[in-house]
Amino acid sequence: MANHWPFLTESSFSWRGKKVLLRFDGDVPVGGRGSQAVVLDDYRLQALLPTLHFLQDQEVAQIILLAHRGRPQGQPNVQLSLRPVADWLRQELGQCRFLSWAEKPGREFLQLYENVRFQPGEEKNDRQFAQSLAKLADVFVNDAFASSHRREASIVGLPQFLPTFLGLRFEAEVRTLTWLRRQAQRPRVFLLGGKKADKLEYLDFLAGWSDQVLLAGALPTLLAKPVPKNVVVAELTDNGQDIAPASRQLFAAKIKAAATFLWAGPVGAYEKKENRAGMVAVVAGLRQSRGFRIAAGGDTHQALLLLGAARDFNFISVGGGAFLQFLRDQTLPGMENGTRN
Ligand code: 3PG
Repeated sequence: MANHWPFLTESSFSWRGKKVLLRFDGDVPVGGRGSQAVVLDDYRLQALLPTLHFLQDQEVAQIILLAHRGRPQGQPNVQLSLRPVADWLRQELGQCRFLSWAEKPGREFLQLYENVRFQPGEEKNDRQFAQSLAKLADVFVNDAFASSHRREASIVGLPQFLPTFLGLRFEAEVRTLTWLRRQAQRPRVFLLGGKKADKLEYLDFLAGWSDQVLLAGALPTLLAKPVPKNVVVAELTDNGQDIAPASRQLFAAKIKAAATFLWAGPVGAYEKKENRAGMVAVVAGLRQSRGFRIAAGGDTHQALLLLGAARDFNFISVGGGAFLQFLRDQTLPGMENGTRN
């Protein structure tokens, strides 16, 4: 593994009385509008709690939270507000002040800034923006594994200005995925789905590392070049929103026979019930297998919740794109000590 920022558990840092900037994965599904909006799947938020409790136990003076939701491209967008995440934290922890970007932090122990990607400097990894954030605290903790493949100000910019540590969830992800990359038993079957075209960048690596790759979701329609021999591209239903019956059968059989099954990205447009038959077939296949099962990503987790299948997995990574990149590179920009912009 490349030289990385220390894990919290490895540090002898003196936390008492320090102000901490804590970056986490707040990109969670939200339902409802305005003040009625609520978090629909809190898996990524639950993942933050051990680090928050660790810092509380160390008697830090203040925690200022940073996170993003969606891709607002440097503009405020009420649909992508983190207000529902602040409400969730308040409910869970009894406190959390929500700050707009026009405000400076107050004296409260726990404060969450609005979506950091509303700021134009975030995705551009603007040095001045990172520096202005750094002035708010004494130390930076990155617990945003799922966002740490992005070279953004709150991921790779802040470590340029503050002592930096990786949080407890980050460590659990790194340790589990490092073991997986090196030791996962064969045959390894990797199901790659979802709608983000950038996942296809990992296809060649996945085809080399796995015995079989199953391609589903919107990805079969996004292919720009021929795929490696061991990639099975799903046939889609007429509406293009799910995999067709023949592919369901084939996928279920391959998954049943896997010693390691990895699943990153939904098989169809699962939000609507009529598009879930492919997912149901995949879950039926894995329930008949004795293999080790790993799922990855926010959308995948939400789909598994809807199907009541989250408990069928040995580990669910918070990362989607970050999971793929870590598996390939065994490091991420947000964890590398010495990343220069
Ligand atoms: C994710 O949901 O995988 C992370 O939040 C990263 O989001 P991004 O693909 O918009 O950078």
